[in-house]
Amino acid sequence: MPDLPFSSERYGPAERQMAQALVTLENRILQPGPAPDCDCREGMFPGLSRRGMLLGGALLGGALLGARPARAEAPPGAIEYPVQPDPTREQGRVILEDGGYGSRSQFENEIRWRYPTASLDSSWSLTPLASGHGIITPSGLHFERHHAGIPNIDPQRHSLILHGMVDKPLRLTMDDLKRMPSVSRIVFIECSGNGLTEWEKPTLRTVQGTHGLTSTSEWTGVRLSTVLNEAGLQDGAAWILAEGADAAVMTRSIPIDKAMDDAILAYAQNGEALRPEQGYPLRLLLPGYEGNTQIKWLRRLEIGDKPFMTREETLKYTDLLADGTARQFTLTMVAKSVITFPSGAMRLPRPGFYEITGLAWSGRGRIAEVEVSADGGQSWTQAALQEPVLDKCHTRFRLPWIWDGAEAVLQSRCTDDTGYRQPTLAELVQARGTKSVYHLNAIQSWRVAQDGEVSNVHV
Ligand code: CO
Repeated sequence: MPDLPFSSERYGPAERQMAQALVTLENRILQPGPAPDCDCREGMFPGLSRRGMLLGGALLGGALLGARPARAEAPPGAIEYPVQPDPTREQGRVILEDGGYGSRSQFENEIRWRYPTASLDSSWSLTPLASGHGIITPSGLHFERHHAGIPNIDPQRHSLILHGMVDKPLRLTMDDLKRMPSVSRIVFIECSGNGLTEWEKPTLRTVQGTHGLTSTSEWTGVRLSTVLNEAGLQDGAAWILAEGADAAVMTRSIPIDKAMDDAILAYAQNGEALRPEQGYPLRLLLPGYEGNTQIKWLRRLEIGDKPFMTREETLKYTDLLADGTARQFTLTMVAKSVITFPSGAMRLPRPGFYEITGLAWSGRGRIAEVEVSADGGQSWTQAALQEPVLDKCHTRFRLPWIWDGAEAVLQSRCTDDTGYRQPTLAELVQARGTKSVYHLNAIQSWRVAQDGEVSNVHV
């Protein structure tokens, strides 16, 4: 087992223990299963072997939580059907056997991993970015952060209360909200703790482990400004307390300017109602802000003249600096990118052509440029940005690459349309010191060894 990877200065014993458990878990998931009985996979994605993923699912609580696939052999979200020897010689299965709500192929098995916290109801789960395509995260693979489990809320009994420094307090049912003018936006949500294991030295092996706390969806709902204008803000209104209906009664303070700018009271995700895990029936969406502020199961908004100083913005989600002071209300997620293919724990089967691809995003605006290096940052080549390139959204980048078989260190760095460029880890540590945990947006390095093995390195 590897050494504890964290300095005591940056992390407490509980965090070190949790991260160590995640390292152990990832290693177990990545253990190769029996060789497949075909030569179709070549082991390029060893961690994504079907048996490996099934093992991961079982280890991560499938058995513990009683959640089982429909048939024993099928991955979560899939149904196991017999494979036809020649599908042109017999009819396929009957239509609507799925009951009218589909499932994925039984041959696709990526799943979220749960950060191994001591309790099962307070944890993170990480999106498998390495197997993603385009920019949309499937709703069932969107990362999650829960502080007190996932509440089960009847939308007919749910309402949103808006009060405080307003002319007319409001109580809005879900029907009230769905009558209002709506808007849809494709935006990322990232937990500001994304990558927190990676400050001191390379720790987790996969991009799911190092970067899996960011996801992108199309969200639909009512602009918060619509509702605030209906209630009428009083002079001096400057902050809003947003409160969730989970057992943590999660609360954060939101600047009124953000609320009036682009905040959304979201009831839908990727074309259907929110998932319970994403805040059903209503969540706050704050494009570009750290995930914790985007309160799920939203039930109350209180307008005030100053921030409310909740636990989550005093004890947590602040950034301790070298001089002992702390940054507070660091709400915007700044520009970041990562190569998702090739990425850690993959193995390139032989020299030759590969398309390097990954994701870049900025909470301040659009991605203007992504550059890729194959020599650890000594030289850079501009990558192509796949349309659409959207404001505060994951942007897919691509670059053709001929691997000559020599050791290479792959990196990406992005620049957003404010001109801000993603820093190296050394630059970031120089600016922030060695005590803060959140908001790690440094350049990620993947080493490709001569045997094709891809690993997480710091250069
Ligand atoms: Co912050």
